[in-house]
Amino acid sequence: MMILGIETSCDETAAAIVQDGQKILSSLVASSVKLHQKTGGIIPEIAAREQSRFIVPVIQKSLAKAKIKPKQLKALAVTTGPGLIGSLLVGVETAKSLAYLWQKPLIPINHLQAHLYANWLEKKKKTPKFPAIGLVVSGGHTDLVLMKNHGEIKWLGGTRDDAAGECFDKCARLLGLGYPGGPSIALAAKNFQKGKTKNKFKLPQPMLHEDNFDFSFSGLKTAVLNEVKKLKEKKQFNNLNINQLANEIQEAITDVLVRKTRKATEKYEVNSLLLAGGVTANSRLREKFKSSILNSQLFIPNPSLCTDNATFIAACAFFNYQPVPWPKIQANSSLEIEEMIK
Ligand code: KG4
Ligand code: ZN
Repeated sequence: MMILGIETSCDETAAAIVQDGQKILSSLVASSVKLHQKTGGIIPEIAAREQSRFIVPVIQKSLAKAKIKPKQLKALAVTTGPGLIGSLLVGVETAKSLAYLWQKPLIPINHLQAHLYANWLEKKKKTPKFPAIGLVVSGGHTDLVLMKNHGEIKWLGGTRDDAAGECFDKCARLLGLGYPGGPSIALAAKNFQKGKTKNKFKLPQPMLHEDNFDFSFSGLKTAVLNEVKKLKEKKQFNNLNINQLANEIQEAITDVLVRKTRKATEKYEVNSLLLAGGVTANSRLREKFKSSILNSQLFIPNPSLCTDNATFIAACAFFNYQPVPWPKIQANSSLEIEEMIK
């Protein structure tokens, strides 16, 4: 069964063709990130304008690369939310038009749930077993969920303020590092000569010891702002200190994510732990999870499948095959991770 997935929730315009929810026949991603790098963050109108420029060529190329004719597709799947409304509308309205034109079923997809399905892609032998804990850490979300089965998702906790990716992005901006902040903080941290210097910045790890599955990252951003101010006053805002601060930010964020997630796997005695979202491309986070999760099987997508693309949209549609008549499908920018779309 071949499904064409379409993803336009933020600044990536993506289309992919996936067979039986696991085999990637093609995956195309066009991004407007370069335009946003100039401003250090996403400008929604620019993202939406670029979406409409890229959407048709990206879909065309995904079909050509997979050597597939539209009539061979079983269905189309599209992200309906959450995300930036202008961006979402481009994908949703294009998918509706194509479903009408090609007379194909259309499956509306929750982007946050779909991220978790990157863990089913390209896996031949080992696929996740339920019940599972899912951690979705992206630019706009930090959510811990219990997955009892496909389509049975219970929210356990999430961030009370900034998302983990947002914290990486905002801290990078404070340090004068590039956008998106996750990869640039990771690179600066790598440049820090570990082992030579002791921790010298006092960064909080809020809610670490609280008996819940919630997170809070805005305090960390404020602490970084204070450290940056102090360094600038002392004229010590140099590469050495920037790299060390980047390293300590990465340690603080990844520690909290790993410890709280481990607690959830212990409490619910699950078979699998599924990581998902752009932040799970972080190699330090991957390393920490690998060494600390022993009680359930750990699944981490390939780094290229962690960030936004359309392969996991198509995979999610395969495992949750619920077409909806196209006139009823609408973009919903504030969709929550638990919500099923019918
Ligand atoms: O899932 P995603 O591609 O888009 C959203 O749905 O938001 O996640 C984007 C987020 C950004 O905040 C970016 O800084 C972060 O993922 N990110 C990383 C890394 N690569 C991307 N964070 C930490 N380390 C990385 N290597
Ligand atoms: Zn995403």
